[in-house]
Amino acid sequence: MKTIRLSNTNLDLPRVIYGCWRLADDPSGHEPAHVQSKIEACLELGINAFDHADIYGDYRCERIFGDALRQSPGLRDQMTLVSKCDIALLSGNRPGHVVKHYDTSPDHISSSVERSLENLATDRLDLLLLHRPDLLMNARQTAAALDQLIREGKVRAVGVSNFTPSQIELLEAFLEAPLTVNQIELSLLQTSPLVDGSLDHCQRTALHPMAWSPLGGGRLFDADDRSAVRVCEALRTLAHSRDMDGQEDSLTQLALAWVMTLPSDPTVIIGSNRVERIEAAAAAADIVLERQEWFTLYEAALGHEVP
Ligand SMILES: NC(=O)c1ccc[n+]([C@@H]2O[C@H](COP(=O)([O-])OP(=O)(O)OC[C@H]3O[C@@H](n4cnc5c(N)ncnc54)[C@H](OP(=O)(O)O)[C@@H]3O)[C@@H](O)[C@H]2O)c1
Repeated sequence: MKTIRLSNTNLDLPRVIYGCWRLADDPSGHEPAHVQSKIEACLELGINAFDHADIYGDYRCERIFGDALRQSPGLRDQMTLVSKCDIALLSGNRPGHVVKHYDTSPDHISSSVERSLENLATDRLDLLLLHRPDLLMNARQTAAALDQLIREGKVRAVGVSNFTPSQIELLEAFLEAPLTVNQIELSLLQTSPLVDGSLDHCQRTALHPMAWSPLGGGRLFDADDRSAVRVCEALRTLAHSRDMDGQEDSLTQLALAWVMTLPSDPTVIIGSNRVERIEAAAAAADIVLERQEWFTLYEAALGHEVP
């Protein structure tokens, strides 16, 4: 699997990353042995980075994953662990929350990281992201809290998610450590980062874009969704022209390759619970689309030709 080196760090991300948001929803369950087998399948494919957040699975997914690591501690050093904090959900697991909100205060960041470390059965996160921009963020204090976590060795590198370029610049103005990534929604069904400045900013600054829900969270294959149907038709035609079989797996591969062909070199975070679909996605890392192939899919995404 090709990897991407995050600038100003010694961290490498595989082009295809496994996202753990849906871990608790796996119809085959989430017993440690089952989760371990999924982790091992990913590692064998070269998918050696796992994307978490404190809130995934109503605050349960990190522990589910950590239980597999507790059972097989040797796995930890074979992977890059990413997690996030700052969204505060209304949840029976957080009875103190009376409204959904964001929290980038130093206290919240540090207590959330402590919990993530404990749940994930590890002594360090390789990458910590602020999950969403917090309108009450005091950038100086938030930056100091992130730098402190790096100094303590609890976090190796920091980044953000769903931030605009100006929100990134605000945080960077106070941060000693480099901001390494912006994790954003990006797919053939969510093309706004191509034109809202997010990807331009990444290319200009070497901030790495991680694309979440690169298959639109499965919407790409929804037969009742008109844009998805149009995009799938274009993917199928392209698959045939490339001597691929035109079945769902080849459409997945081309849809992921469409994201990875962008010049800011995004990684894609996939979320299927099925090992055969994870295998199909891993193969996308080797596909590069030609310029006119890429624009054919973009046209299908837009629903009209470019001006
Ligand atoms: N930073 C953020 O704000 C944010 C937000 C959302 C997500 N994320 C990250 O992004 C990761 C991926 O998100 P995602 O799960 O929405 O990604 P995705 O890969 O776009 O969607 C995966 C979903 O699509 C379904 N699916 C249906 N047909 C499929 C097919 N042919 N191939 C593959 N999947 C198919 C999967 O179901 P099956 O399991 O049945 O295959 C699964 O439910 C998350 O785990 C999380 O780490 C980040």
